[in-house]
Amino acid sequence: MKITDLRCEYMKGLVVTDRKAPLFSWVIESDKKDVVQTAYRIIVSENIEELDGKKGNICPKSFVASDKSTGVQYEGKALKPFTKYYWRVEVRCNNDEAAVSEIASFLTGRLDVRFPAKWISRQEKQGKKKNAGAKSPYLFKRFTVEKEIKEAFLFATAKGVYDAQINGMKLSHVVLAPGWTDFGKTFYYQGYEITDLLKTGENAMGVSLGDGWYFGNLSAVGRNQYGVYPRMFAAVMVIKYTDGTTEKISTDSSWKIGEGPIRYADLQTGEFYDANYELLNFGTVEFDESGFAPVTVKLIKEELTAQRGELIAVQGEIIPVSHNLIKGKYVFDMGQNMVGRIRLKVKGTPGKKIKIRYGEMLNTDKTLYTSNLRSCEATDYYVCKTDGYETWEATFTVHGFRYVEISGINYIPSLDAVIGVVIHNDLERTGSFECNDGLVNKLYKNAYWGQKGNFLAVPTDCPQRDERLGWTGDSQIFCQSGCYNMYSEAFYEKYINDIMDEQRENGAFTDIAPYIHWPNGNPLVGYGNAAWGDAGVIMPWLMYKNYGNLRILKECYPNIVKYIDLLETTTEDDIRTPICYGDWLCVGNPIPFPVIDTLYMIYVTDLAVKIARLLENDSDAARFEGYAARYRKAFLKHFVKNDGEIEGDTQTGYVLAIRFNIANGDKELCDKFVNKLIKAMEAANYHLTTGFVGVKELLPVLCEVGRADIAYKLLNNRTYPSWLYSVVNGATTIWERWNSFTLEEGFADIAMNSFNHYSLGSVTEWLYGYVGGMREFEPGWSKFIIAPEIASLEYANVSFKSPKGVIESCWKRVGNGYEIKITIPANSRATVMLPATENAKITELLLANGIDFEYKNGRMVAELGSGSYLFKVRETV
Ligand code: BGC
Repeated sequence: MKITDLRCEYMKGLVVTDRKAPLFSWVIESDKKDVVQTAYRIIVSENIEELDGKKGNICPKSFVASDKSTGVQYEGKALKPFTKYYWRVEVRCNNDEAAVSEIASFLTGRLDVRFPAKWISRQEKQGKKKNAGAKSPYLFKRFTVEKEIKEAFLFATAKGVYDAQINGMKLSHVVLAPGWTDFGKTFYYQGYEITDLLKTGENAMGVSLGDGWYFGNLSAVGRNQYGVYPRMFAAVMVIKYTDGTTEKISTDSSWKIGEGPIRYADLQTGEFYDANYELLNFGTVEFDESGFAPVTVKLIKEELTAQRGELIAVQGEIIPVSHNLIKGKYVFDMGQNMVGRIRLKVKGTPGKKIKIRYGEMLNTDKTLYTSNLRSCEATDYYVCKTDGYETWEATFTVHGFRYVEISGINYIPSLDAVIGVVIHNDLERTGSFECNDGLVNKLYKNAYWGQKGNFLAVPTDCPQRDERLGWTGDSQIFCQSGCYNMYSEAFYEKYINDIMDEQRENGAFTDIAPYIHWPNGNPLVGYGNAAWGDAGVIMPWLMYKNYGNLRILKECYPNIVKYIDLLETTTEDDIRTPICYGDWLCVGNPIPFPVIDTLYMIYVTDLAVKIARLLENDSDAARFEGYAARYRKAFLKHFVKNDGEIEGDTQTGYVLAIRFNIANGDKELCDKFVNKLIKAMEAANYHLTTGFVGVKELLPVLCEVGRADIAYKLLNNRTYPSWLYSVVNGATTIWERWNSFTLEEGFADIAMNSFNHYSLGSVTEWLYGYVGGMREFEPGWSKFIIAPEIASLEYANVSFKSPKGVIESCWKRVGNGYEIKITIPANSRATVMLPATENAKITELLLANGIDFEYKNGRMVAELGSGSYLFKVRETV
């Protein structure tokens, strides 16, 4: 038995936190079956040598009898600020096994003390180019370390974004910190271990600043959302010496400031880099700062908090698949619609300007298609300084692209003259899916690439055009898929904080978070909309379910109550008063707004009942139950005919009514909805007509009502509208619209046509939950079902590293039955429900003892503890 995957605040690595009682999680790995944790003991110490727990441990010394292994709250002595703590956990299990984990660590931030530094900057003008800022400031500090270093840390942040190096070495693979929050409400600083970057003697630190989200273009509202220049930097270096003393080196008036090669940089506009301004030896002690000026110093008035969620970082590289000379420009095809930037190797002459443009698609004449980027320029410039080869990568911009167009070179470049540098928040991948249908595999990959590209500071709708916003609807729709694909708790928890930050006075959650405004102060978009604002209830609930995080429910609870009460006061005759967006981008007849809005209101009110009960707030729970009962009644009265027809007669209407249990246990009514849904499927010739909202629930509901055959039919469709339509038309990510591009009609309306929009990729959730069958999980996956739908595929291998460990469901058809390998992680149990007839015979191949399966509604059902199992299911005729 092994204890692995230690996480603090649901993150791996050296996490910095200002939480006084951070949450710990771990995974138990064991070859044995039926393993359950019976007790744990957490050991925390400042000194790694003391992790045997005998001395120095600042946690209770006794074991806690519990099977909890995710989100376990720290309960030791008060933590000290700016301190690295080591921790491990000892676990005892039911089979008399015990194990001690590997060692992990976390770093406390300022906790209750003031951030011991000042903002440094200097007066700056906006810059000449309308859509871009001005020359990046470069900051420099030289300092001497007199004693022997034990360990050292840097805590830093910026107004804008920063890139820092110590003695010429980068802090880490992190880029674009501090990312994006509503800076007036939450402002994060980051923590880094820099022990290996420092040396006793002379040291130097160099920092450059870009505009980022603070000053740069946001969506279409323009620049300076949070203020005007100057860009500022604040940091404190905490150096602990072997003699037990500590020294702090902070940003103050001793720093120097100047300019360098980045002439402007904007997330949307792009970066202008002139290599002739490069600073020789910048960030090292050899740097000559005589041309630099003293900085201006300002007090930090913002309440800085330690970063939540993993940072944005470089995640990989891609080599183009081809390049072509088109009208005098080289167009490189990365073979994958990706998000990040490029590393360029070019040869020019001193002062030669190379222009680099980015696009997701090509025009028919093979030139770069950029109309769908709208006002976003997505253009970088590199100015050469020699006549030899030079290599460059942007620092403060990101683009969403598959194609890169280079102009300004007069030789045939090699294919690797352009390398794609993939950038997104640094989350662990947790899922994989593979089946015998290559197109379905491609669809799965496309959705995964959509997640990579749109996990950038916040979950965005799209990464390329002048939008790139944290749309709450898109986020909640993809959230479960996101949690299967990657360990997303901390990233979403940070985003949920963004949503809570933006809650309006009246209680409404906003349609985007962070919320942004036009220069005249008007908000860009609205709030309180069905399926969008509702994310403020849905997403905390999903974090509780997926990761067992009860704290997030407690923290969001007052906001949730306010929202649910707001919905109630704004209904008319218990019907939700609609604003927008309905079943966004659906095909054909749209579901009427009041119908979809009321359906979602019932859903989130039901969730609020569950949350209130969990938090033992029975009077709220009873009040919300009352609301939900009234809404259901009103829904039936206003929108449902006797034969079960729901106003609008749409697939989405029936799907949501079934999913959200509008019939409230009335089997007859539910059957009517099911019949109507099947008719609606037939009427559409077994094609979907759903938009963002309906699509998420479509295939799950079809399976739940026993029509997996139709679900697979929809999955396998290649004609418009279908998922595979985009795949057969060459998509490498999920498109915004079912018809973003068609062979017959070309590109859809350029006003809104992204080729990397993950919402319609919510089918990912179904691939794990129904093809693999792993779903219906209790908080933190402590219990779940495995109920695969074995239909038109020959085989499927589905694996998901849950917070409890790896779950597998790998099946293949064999003869008149199938074989299935199932893995249930330690400290978890599953109800396995294998599709079968009553006559089916089940042989368990790996286990000596037989397992008793019971036949229930077309499935052989057994309760299983942890372990790996191989079953062969065949008919006994
Ligand atoms: C975004 C969407 C978003 C929608 C709201 C669009 O511009 O790209 O993904 O949810 O607006 O309806």
